[in-house]
Amino acid sequence: MSVRLDKYISDFTDMTRSQAKKAVRDGKVSVNGEVVTKGDEKVSFSDSVFLGGLEIRGADYQYMMMNKPSGVVSATVDGEHKTVLDCVRSGVDQSSGSPPPYVAKDLFPMGRLDKDTEGLLILTDDGPLAHRILSPGRHVPKKYYVELDAAVDEKDMEKMRSGIDIGEKRLTKPAKMEILTEHSCYLTISEGRFHQVKRMFGCLGKRVVALKRVEMAGLELDPSLAAGEWRFLTEEEIAYLKGI
Ligand code: URA
Repeated sequence: MSVRLDKYISDFTDMTRSQAKKAVRDGKVSVNGEVVTKGDEKVSFSDSVFLGGLEIRGADYQYMMMNKPSGVVSATVDGEHKTVLDCVRSGVDQSSGSPPPYVAKDLFPMGRLDKDTEGLLILTDDGPLAHRILSPGRHVPKKYYVELDAAVDEKDMEKMRSGIDIGEKRLTKPAKMEILTEHSCYLTISEGRFHQVKRMFGCLGKRVVALKRVEMAGLELDPSLAAGEWRFLTEEEIAYLKGI
């Protein structure tokens, strides 16, 4: 597939078509290392298109994984706090070491983590895929590493398995708890209720002091990503997500 350069730019950035045309005319765009000043030049996904030093990645959709740091909100815009999209824009694709590309127009985090929660967040502009994976009936598993202010034991494990009354209509669905140390464990849940993990442990009289998502929908957080870092998903990871 090949399209006009100005259309390609407006499709894969937040620029309008006329802003894209002007950027090309002003000599700000390069294709495969050469400055191109004609908007009707044809480009395809295999071409390397840069605007003002940032790569414009043309693809049907963008898919990224981030190790969300604490203190950042899982939103696209926020008047007060840094967002996960700010992290994408100010970061580097860790799989290629490339400068940040233009972020897709409609990129959003697939699900939310609390501001003080760290770990795996998938970002995409593929609305249908996100809708499918996040739909409540799908019960996609999410695994969290949890640190607590009190010791955890086998009784807690059993309560998590049976479901907890967190003050809503229904008990929580069975959750799998794996004890790691006296004060830490993994908890795998298959719902996404508000502050769910903290509330579940709260009902057992324990306070969560650190929370990190390590797995979601069968995708593991890449251990090489430090807090705040992100990378594009691999073709295999994208195919896997599309297949579930
Ligand atoms: N459960 C919580 O309590 N917080 C999160 O961020 C995610 C799950």
